[in-house]
Amino acid sequence: MTNSSASEPFSAVAPYYDQLMQSIPYLWWMHYVETLLDYFDRPAQKVLDLCCGTGNLSELLALSGYEVVGVDRSAAMIEQARRKAEQHQSGVRYYVQDAAELDSGETFDAIVSLFDSLNNIIEPERFAEALRRAYQHLNPDGIFIFDLNTEYAFVQKMFDQRLLEPSAPLRYRWRSRYDKESRLCTVQMEFWVREGEQERYFTETHLQRAYTESEVREMLYAAGFAEVHLFDAYTLHPPDRRSDRVFYVGLR
Ligand SMILES: C[S@@+](CC[C@H](N)C(=O)[O-])C[C@H]1O[C@@H](n2cnc3c(N)ncnc32)[C@H](O)[C@@H]1O
Repeated sequence: MTNSSASEPFSAVAPYYDQLMQSIPYLWWMHYVETLLDYFDRPAQKVLDLCCGTGNLSELLALSGYEVVGVDRSAAMIEQARRKAEQHQSGVRYYVQDAAELDSGETFDAIVSLFDSLNNIIEPERFAEALRRAYQHLNPDGIFIFDLNTEYAFVQKMFDQRLLEPSAPLRYRWRSRYDKESRLCTVQMEFWVREGEQERYFTETHLQRAYTESEVREMLYAAGFAEVHLFDAYTLHPPDRRSDRVFYVGLR
């Protein structure tokens, strides 16, 4: 077995991310985003996929006819996304940039950030800055759609996942610990990848912060949004205390 030391979040795992996300219904997620665009009567042509990862949603949006830009902090994730754009000839432009430092020099009709990406910004000031930057990158009548894991998800240990079948080419074990005081969830991720006769082992530690609905709402208004709406994920119902994922919609 070859060992590599602990790596930055979303770096060593980047080449395996799509394999791990095989069962994620990105197409259905895109339809949910489009449902929200219709619901708020905010037709969009140009979309920013903020924290786009390996570009799974970006590519689908582009194939559906949107002009898409994808931004992510991880160069390794962007490398995968660019490879995909080349394969698909999708025309998506991908950039390495931190959401809290977003400065793309262009504006968008819609900004989307899916799969609890923004929970990864654990400093509230930087999180608020990311929301401000999103607002500044929207056209008048623009819409910002993102989802966040709730504290309930962390308490319920929804990050604790494993696939340890010896025959699996990619095995993993993720263990989480949530600290109510700091509102931080620490996820220790271990991976074993079969490479021919060899097995490579690597780890990543991911940190997410549980933001309360009221603090996010306040930050969105402070960023300048005229209206803020919350939904239990993938529905048009308000969240309740058992919502593990909440969608936020900010209208400019
Ligand atoms: C769970 S992945 C989701 C990726 C993609 N949105 C998807 O649905 O597959 C979270 C992504 O957020 C990115 N990320 C985390 N913090 C970020 C930040 N401050 N700025 C930009 N990207 C960030 C990570 O690099 C990672 O690619």
